[in-house]
Amino acid sequence: MSGAAVLAGLGTFVPPRVVTNDELSLTLDTSDEWIRTRTGITQRHWADPGTATGDLAVEAGRRALAAAGTDTVDLVVLATTTPDHPCPATAPEVAARLGLPHVAAFDLAAVCSGFVYALATAAGAIAAGTATRVLVIGAETYSSILDPEDRTTSVIFGDGAGAVVLRAGEPDEPGALLAHDLGSDGSLKDLIIVPGGGSRQPPAGAEKPGPRPADSYFQMQGRPVFRHAVTRMAASSQAVLDRAGWSADSVGRFVGHQANVRILHAVADQLGMARDRVVVNLDRVGNTSAASIPLALAHAVTEGLVAPGDQVLLSAFGGGVTWGSTALVWPDVPVH
Ligand code: ACO
Repeated sequence: MSGAAVLAGLGTFVPPRVVTNDELSLTLDTSDEWIRTRTGITQRHWADPGTATGDLAVEAGRRALAAAGTDTVDLVVLATTTPDHPCPATAPEVAARLGLPHVAAFDLAAVCSGFVYALATAAGAIAAGTATRVLVIGAETYSSILDPEDRTTSVIFGDGAGAVVLRAGEPDEPGALLAHDLGSDGSLKDLIIVPGGGSRQPPAGAEKPGPRPADSYFQMQGRPVFRHAVTRMAASSQAVLDRAGWSADSVGRFVGHQANVRILHAVADQLGMARDRVVVNLDRVGNTSAASIPLALAHAVTEGLVAPGDQVLLSAFGGGVTWGSTALVWPDVPVH
């Protein structure tokens, strides 16, 4: 059966270790007050050394499968910026650990837009009839690529994972992904970058002792990223509203990429949407990149901010630079 992609279950996982703003202030020239007022973040979760993105993805994936009441899928798409290894992709091992051997599985790299890109990709596979059920996971361990001495990035990012199961269904069912918008502008790639470790700048020999070279860490030019994030998320959201035939007013909840509460409010303002429609959980988890949207969705459902029948708009902006949005009517599905 081919057709619409319908959300059938949602699961999340964050590593247990909580890192507060005050804890970061002990080693960085920053303060709880600066981080809270500039970003809205009060704490984030960081994985312990030895815990990798794949470990978080397996937990979230297991919970999403349980929520959807299934133990089989045809495809696993893992959106991540922090794969377990440069090669191979993390998704096949995650699939194997989930008891889904031999299914198609690949990683998708669109940084903070990764989850929205993965939803559209999975929906495409379902529409094409190459899959009838897909596990879409966004998982990150940003703590593994942050420069511990860089206050402009270390205070922002957190680790975590979120996953959904999409199944083939009908476009008028609750949970059907109704519209997508995806875009990129690679001329801005330097705004969000890990310069080293790829083929343009291969990794320094692992046998060399001493600290990691600066270029192996994540770097971000916060101020221009802020500006582009607002413009692109607003335009992409509007494109999806138009495609779904929705007004900004009719959106019950706006679940945007959790980078900065000021960005989310500015996007709502540009769309002409009341700020109280904006879901915010970045205060608890920080910016978890590809995991951000499913973690925010789960927060919204468990806090009673989203109920079955609500019109939900998802939108993200990230490195590349990339952006994307999706619209769906929230279904009556469990969150684990
Ligand atoms: N603590 C204290 N001071 C700091 C810190 C810190 N942690 N970080 C920066 N500062 C200082 C700066 O040095 C600067 O000082 P100066 O005025 O003396 O030069 C001042 O604070 C202001 O710095 P800005 O960078 O202009 O601060 P801004 O208000 O823009 O906030 C932030 C920075 C939070 C990063 C913001 O720009 C932002 O949220 N950007 C967007 C991030 C985003 O959306 N990312 C999404 C994609 S991420 C991805 O794809 C992985």
